[in-house]
Amino acid sequence: MQNNDDGFNRVTAFPEISGSVQWRSPSNIALVKYWGKRKGQIPENPSISITLKKSHTETLLGYSPAKGQSGILTGFSLDRRELPAFKERIDRYLSQIGDLYPFLKDFDLTISSTNSFPHSSGIASSASALSAIALCVTSMERMLFSSPSDDYSFFRKASYAARIGSGSAARSVYPGYVLWGSAAEIPHSANEYAVPLNDNIHAEFKDMGDAILIVDESPKPVSSSKGHSLMESNPWATVRYRQAEMHTGRLIEVLAAGDAEEFVRIVEKEAMTLHSLMMSSYPGYILLKPGTLQIIEKVRQFRLDTRVPLAFTLDAGPNVHLIYPARFRESVKNLIEQQLVVHCSKGRWIDDNTGEGPVEITESDS
Ligand code: PMV
Repeated sequence: MQNNDDGFNRVTAFPEISGSVQWRSPSNIALVKYWGKRKGQIPENPSISITLKKSHTETLLGYSPAKGQSGILTGFSLDRRELPAFKERIDRYLSQIGDLYPFLKDFDLTISSTNSFPHSSGIASSASALSAIALCVTSMERMLFSSPSDDYSFFRKASYAARIGSGSAARSVYPGYVLWGSAAEIPHSANEYAVPLNDNIHAEFKDMGDAILIVDESPKPVSSSKGHSLMESNPWATVRYRQAEMHTGRLIEVLAAGDAEEFVRIVEKEAMTLHSLMMSSYPGYILLKPGTLQIIEKVRQFRLDTRVPLAFTLDAGPNVHLIYPARFRESVKNLIEQQLVVHCSKGRWIDDNTGEGPVEITESDS
């Protein structure tokens, strides 16, 4: 029994334990897009992404025994700034995962996160940010209870918890190619968590580049969650979900076969479909900018001229991701520097590529 400042007498499950855990978790870019969800953050269709390397979030989670009746988030900062709107979102997230991690109510928490990419770069940060928090909380559980005991269960739980914060975050806990959502072709796939897809990847697709061209860095005028909810009344929704299932199955085959032409076809069709869904929602909206379209035209011309299998893809915004087998890096870099950088805001682009997935940062690393 412990007598707290607030006068409550209560059993403290972890009276002495204070400490911190820290994870670096990457962003990811979807090749087959998740767009449309059901209650409980269940995707309407499976999606496939690649996990990035340079674009990541580092999160430090500090914990100490709760001073009040129940633990609270006492501090939150992003890029060393205290942002009340973000703190509120993280507070809500922690209560949403309270049943999964019941010990959280016994601790006061502080969270400080830093992104490797500028806050205003237009890169979706929710995947890296929410996966980093989910990994920290799962690490805390492992530290307290030695469970989840093996890496397989650890990452599966982290992916499950990350999904609750942001669907695409479920995919960020694994390196390389990642599938989230139940797909007939992959026996252990599930709507509740992602699974890595790296067992059967052709050499051509093992090491991929992602050049992120920052066309516009303003905040999104329509949030992803609003976009997902507009899919409920989108007239093309049923056909779209079926198309995404087909693209998922086909992309899995293409990745194994090393078929670069078909890879480009699927990836670009997915990007175009995502934005056509936004335009055909009610109210419809357009996130593309003139620079986005100019880049797309130049990429297609470059492909015709050089036969380099360079595909563009888009997130829910105007910035363009150029995806390509890493061995073509020099010619893609030349294309960007000579023709595309004029369409980038302040000439900015990020030379990213597939990464090793999240890492726990221990004291000896810092
Ligand atoms: O995870 P959310 O809710 O931010 O949705 C992400 C949706 C897209 O980025 C457009 C596509 C995807 O699969 O990542």
